[in-house]
Amino acid sequence: MFAVKPMNWRNIAQISKDIYWVGVRDWDRRLFDALIPLPKGTTYNSYFVRGSKKKALIDTVNPGFEIEWEQKIQKIADPADIDYVIMNHAEPDHAGSIPHIMQLNNKAMLITSAKGAKMAQTFYKVPENRIKAVADNETLDLGGKTLRFIEAPMLHWPETMFTYLVENKVLFSCDFFGSHIAQGLYDDEVEDLIVWAQRYFGEIMMPFRINAQKALEKIKPLELETIAPSHGPIHRNPKRILEAYQKWSAGETRKKAIIVYVSMWNSTAKMIQPIADVLTSEGIEVAKHNLANADIADLAKDLVDARAIILGAPTVLAGAHPLAVYATYLVKALRPSAKYAVALSSYGWAGGAIKHIQEALGSTKITILDALEINGPPNEEHISRIVAMGKVLAEKIKEEK
Ligand code: FEO
Repeated sequence: MFAVKPMNWRNIAQISKDIYWVGVRDWDRRLFDALIPLPKGTTYNSYFVRGSKKKALIDTVNPGFEIEWEQKIQKIADPADIDYVIMNHAEPDHAGSIPHIMQLNNKAMLITSAKGAKMAQTFYKVPENRIKAVADNETLDLGGKTLRFIEAPMLHWPETMFTYLVENKVLFSCDFFGSHIAQGLYDDEVEDLIVWAQRYFGEIMMPFRINAQKALEKIKPLELETIAPSHGPIHRNPKRILEAYQKWSAGETRKKAIIVYVSMWNSTAKMIQPIADVLTSEGIEVAKHNLANADIADLAKDLVDARAIILGAPTVLAGAHPLAVYATYLVKALRPSAKYAVALSSYGWAGGAIKHIQEALGSTKITILDALEINGPPNEEHISRIVAMGKVLAEKIKEEK
């Protein structure tokens, strides 16, 4: 009997001369970090670079996709012949298949930052003699392909770095400039890509805006034809994502308010409705999220460029509703640039939610302009008060640049 070798039908794409996308598409993943919804899945982009003398892989893929990834690499070269594996970031969605490639190949060196070197030993048990730590701006010659390593710490882990391929003008930026969406190889193939990128920025990069600004400054002198992140489409038109990242990392906001609320018996919801309507009538863009079924990555996206936050929460057992507590925690952790907040609350038999929210936001730079806590559903007087609050808030939003 002849053994029939199964057909390797895997597809790869050459994204620039001698640079191949060997990543995988995780169409079905619906949650990241047991926290972030992924309604359109994600990708784990890995790249193969062929120089005249040496071959390198840039980042790997999420555990569980090792065989698909290996089959893609086989389309170009024997995985055992790879000389270098570049680890831009140690998180398992990009580095989790390092043990697989190091087992297939007994000569490849792992190239990473000094902090990454320690993580590669801790997370992936890579022996020290197979790791080379590189310094900021250090280069590696593959033969007509020069890799330059650029430290970009805390985007969003301490060891993060970028790899720039000088001759092809390609920046491999790992999480930075990424988006969680499985569809599309290139940016221009996804109509609303900037929305997905903003969502990603909000959930991953927003707390590190200062580091993001430093990284943008650092890559400014580079000629960039392509930005190849490790999630989502490759930017073959990098101008658009660079401009967006300039705005988001500088904390530029729009005439926009985000409403984040939860309501048990519809009374808090009835307080939210008039302020949403007033703000909209005053020309303010309003993004409304009911925490009972909110997509928190969408909420994070709206926090990126909102100037004000309206929090609505009933009282539960002398404090704010747990979902509102969760939302205030997220606001604190994500560190948006919104300056103003308004808090609205209704209680059944005892208040406390407003005090709880005020305490929770007390340590942020957000000023609570006004708050209203009422018993039961709002009456006409309450509604008039909320309408007035909305008008004051709209003026504040319009005054901001
Ligand atoms: Fe996509 Fe921080 O890993």
